[in-house]
Amino acid sequence: MNKNNVLITGGAGFIGSHVVRLFVNKYPEYQIYNLDSLTYAGNLENLKDIEEEENYHFLKADINDEESINKLFKQYQFDSVIHLAAESHVDRSIKDPLAFVKTNIIGTLNLLNAFKGIWEHDFDGKRFYHISTDEVYGTLGESGLFTEITPYSPNSPYSASKASSDHFVRAYGETYDLPYVISNCSNNYGQNQFPEKLIPLFINNIINKKPLPVYGDGNYTRDWLYVIDHARAIDLVFHEGENGETYNIGGFNEWKNIDLVRLLCKQMDEKLGNANGTSEELITYVKDRPGHDLRYAIDASKINEKLGWEPSVTFEEGLSKTIDWYLSNQEWLNHVTSGAYQTYYEKQYQS
Ligand code: NAD
Ligand code: TYD
Repeated sequence: MNKNNVLITGGAGFIGSHVVRLFVNKYPEYQIYNLDSLTYAGNLENLKDIEEEENYHFLKADINDEESINKLFKQYQFDSVIHLAAESHVDRSIKDPLAFVKTNIIGTLNLLNAFKGIWEHDFDGKRFYHISTDEVYGTLGESGLFTEITPYSPNSPYSASKASSDHFVRAYGETYDLPYVISNCSNNYGQNQFPEKLIPLFINNIINKKPLPVYGDGNYTRDWLYVIDHARAIDLVFHEGENGETYNIGGFNEWKNIDLVRLLCKQMDEKLGNANGTSEELITYVKDRPGHDLRYAIDASKINEKLGWEPSVTFEEGLSKTIDWYLSNQEWLNHVTSGAYQTYYEKQYQS
């Protein structure tokens, strides 16, 4: 595979920033281009430690803007793409589905077309890697696991838009021989995650002694993976995954929301020097999310057996590191939660 010019989209976001850092540090011989439009979720502060590296380049652009995407592909001749840019929050997709159609579907098509446009006559050594989610498979009951052949059955506008983009990537592979690989990962957690998702939102609320809004009865289950382990998996799939294949990535780590929140409260109390039980008093059951998927759980045996990947940290360790990061980066938290965040929060959690 040619890897001279690697385009990473969404590199200023949560997972993207960890992938960019890993690639910039581990592969000094590659030129890494981080393309991001810097939405509310994109933050260049996430990459401060590597922004001066010679093989790192930032391109501010919107994947919805077909013309500038085509121009950038012509200018930089990206050999491969790792596509993470997306609208990523389910609750926002319930309020504004069209934004998800634009970025997640049309934006992905713009990238596919631009990639096809420059390489169509010689795809040799090229790769389009689409980063997706386990949410495309819909929901599980009390038992079973999602495998790579589980039929797609998305339930939220977010997961429907991601499912659609997965289908388009696959279809470009079938129709135009575009060399692609897809991975579908479970819920990520770790440093730099925007505090609208469960774990960073609750850490921030505990710090600020605000209620912890648990949706419904809290008996929903997610499979949690430390973001650094996801970045390691992306590195492996990018380099060693087979064209036309999908890889499921998960933490072998299922937690009911309410149990996870209790563990988080316990760790926070210890770190803040609170009496045991202080943070749990903030737990407040609120109106459920519409169409709330009961359970996600990934069978990650394919990536384990074919590429030798497995998670490197336990959930307790990963959560503890994550909390430590937020506690020592409160400026980052204050920065991202000022301004528009307040309006979002009021609308989302009004009773
Ligand atoms: P995020 O919301 O933290 O970051 C998304 C990034 O994309 C931001 O930097 C944002 O500025 C950028 N972006 C959004 N719209 C854009 C546009 N139109 N043009 C250019 N840039 C744009 O998301 P994340 O949690 O890091 O997720 C990254 C990818 O991984 C997404 O594709 C998501 O579907 C997938 N994923 C996320 C999880 C998870 O738990 N967070 C799990 C599995 C898969
Ligand atoms: P989230 O972090 O939004 O990820 P996803 O919807 O992609 O799984 O939510 C994780 C779980 O936590 C999900 O079951 C919804 C629940 N949740 C709450 O109970 N309260 C909240 O305030 C949020 C944001 C999520």
